[in-house]
Amino acid sequence: MNLDNRVVLVTGATGGLGQEFVKQALARGAAKVYAGARRDHDWGDSRVVPLQLDVTDPAAIATAVAAAPDADVLVNNAGVRGADSLLTSPESEIRETYEANVFAPLLLVRAFAPVLARNGGGAIINVHSALSWLARPGAYAASKTAFWGLTNALRLELAEQKTQVVGAHLGYTDTPFIAHLDVPKSDPAVIVSNILDALEAGEDEAMADDTSVQVKSILPSMTTGILPS
Ligand SMILES: NC(=O)c1ccc[n+]([C@@H]2O[C@H](COP(=O)([O-])OP(=O)(O)OC[C@H]3O[C@@H](n4cnc5c(N)ncnc54)[C@H](OP(=O)(O)O)[C@@H]3O)[C@@H](O)[C@H]2O)c1
Repeated sequence: MNLDNRVVLVTGATGGLGQEFVKQALARGAAKVYAGARRDHDWGDSRVVPLQLDVTDPAAIATAVAAAPDADVLVNNAGVRGADSLLTSPESEIRETYEANVFAPLLLVRAFAPVLARNGGGAIINVHSALSWLARPGAYAASKTAFWGLTNALRLELAEQKTQVVGAHLGYTDTPFIAHLDVPKSDPAVIVSNILDALEAGEDEAMADDTSVQVKSILPSMTTGILPS
């Protein structure tokens, strides 16, 4: 997989990582990028085609499929932080977390799989988290674990149509998503560059930072999803 002349659709395109995906896909030679987002954004580049896309809205997904028949790379990047507690947050907030972080990317893959197949197979990047592998209170980490499992199952189903499926893992990254956290953060430009390197190298998994590499390396010693002390 090489991004030269590819047609890429990015969800959550106006976010911190989303904007990097748009910019770097073009820098790597993509012919066109569909920038799927809920908000308007002036991209200042005729190769960027804005798409109104709330990923939790099935009608908007159908419209996106009709509007982007030439897409051959789908980047499932949109995500939400979600409900703080699995016990006390309203059930609706927990469902909304799973709608955005699990069902939305699944529905996008289902909708775009025939498009990718028609265009030669192409690729999908699913943006998980290092927290796909670590337990945290609340719905976010649990939803990213579910997303990771879904990616791996989809990869098996999409192999027949030769669609590469990349699961991307990253820790704290300097975007509006975690603006409220005072912690060391990676540069989103470096994270996206590492993910796109993995895509272009034909990998199934993108380990975008040291945190992800470290967390994955200790998975065998974890019994409950909690870091060993
Ligand atoms: N930053 C980190 O530390 C970090 C770490 C691990 C994983 N991630 C993952 O990286 C991905 C991108 O996040 P980011 O860091 O770039 O955060 P961000 O700047 O907050 O961007 C998140 C984007 O997702 C969009 N989004 C949320 N719900 C949506 C919906 N229903 N329909 C369409 N778009 C929706 C947001 O759109 P609006 O602006 O319209 O809300 C926003 O553009 C997320 O999946 C996140 O879980 C981030």
